[in-house]
Amino acid sequence: MAMKDDVEKPATADTAATQMPATGFPATRLRRPRQADWSRRLVRETHLTVDDLIWPIFIIDGDNRREPVASMPGVDRLSIDLAVKAAEDAAKCGIPVIEVFPNTPSELRSPSGSEALNPDNLACRAVRAIKAAVPDIGVMCDVALDPYTSHGHDGLLSDDGRILNDETLDVLVEQSLVQADAGCDILGPSDMMDGRIGAIRSALEDGGFSDVQLMSYAAKYASGFFNPFREAVGSSGTLSGDKKTYQMDPGNTNEAVREAALDIAEGADMIMVKPGLAYLDILYRLKTTFAMPTFAYQVSGEYAMLMAAVQNGWLDGDRVIEEALIAFKRAGADGILTYFALDMAKKLNARR
Ligand code: PBG
Repeated sequence: MAMKDDVEKPATADTAATQMPATGFPATRLRRPRQADWSRRLVRETHLTVDDLIWPIFIIDGDNRREPVASMPGVDRLSIDLAVKAAEDAAKCGIPVIEVFPNTPSELRSPSGSEALNPDNLACRAVRAIKAAVPDIGVMCDVALDPYTSHGHDGLLSDDGRILNDETLDVLVEQSLVQADAGCDILGPSDMMDGRIGAIRSALEDGGFSDVQLMSYAAKYASGFFNPFREAVGSSGTLSGDKKTYQMDPGNTNEAVREAALDIAEGADMIMVKPGLAYLDILYRLKTTFAMPTFAYQVSGEYAMLMAAVQNGWLDGDRVIEEALIAFKRAGADGILTYFALDMAKKLNARR
């Protein structure tokens, strides 16, 4: 019952506001503080800062290679040398964390996704190169098998087409150790297998990686908004079926609370809600319920929607991108994974 009350209480101080003695118009004119920029800044409740941004980038093999992602205008897949430059730019702007997503060459994808366990795979090489060149930026990696499996699923597939939960856990644990060993600071299990946070946390403890942080994709929905990402990592053509047996049903909210509670109990340091804009209620509810460091992932489809409208001249990018990002902060996010991170950071830095 206590938990339910907490959920329904707003996260901010607006409880106090509603308890104030009612004073009516004209003593109260809510437009008064809106009259000047200085005043709007003074009373602004929520701020977006560079410290809020996590920048996901896509990695390809090769040297000095940059390949545009068609459904994500402005986003390129980068070879590792260019990814290092990107990380340098991000660090210069003050972005705290960069996340690397590999586009595994197709000949290295297999039903078991074993390339995920190769200490010299694209992701691990990118992590090592970035940590060596830019030691002060945090580096994050996904934990999931989809960039490595020939069937495009996040877990192992049985002969009759089921995703095998417990068998997958063993592989995810190995993948986590390999990525931690490469120098990854934050692991983001995005696979949605039951029990993975606990399994990974105890393997990290046993393996001497007790400082590696876990940001669990706690509430990750079976969403249509991931399609451009799947193009970016090269798994869209191969994906057989959908991910509805492991990612959450978009109609559910209590289940998100249960997912987050389990991940926290199993050892997550931070939790994430994904996608972002269509799930702000979930973000607000998890932040209010658990008071954990809580993140939103503004996913590839959200990026694509905004960019499509901006490129058509239908929306003003300077306004709507920041407006969408501030929405996450308002709903309770401590930070946002966004493909707009570098551009947004530059804009924020130019302001002062
Ligand atoms: C992989 C993963 C996905 C995303 C992040 N990690 C895709 C998926 O689950 O199919 C989506 C990110 C985005 O759309 O920007 N498990």
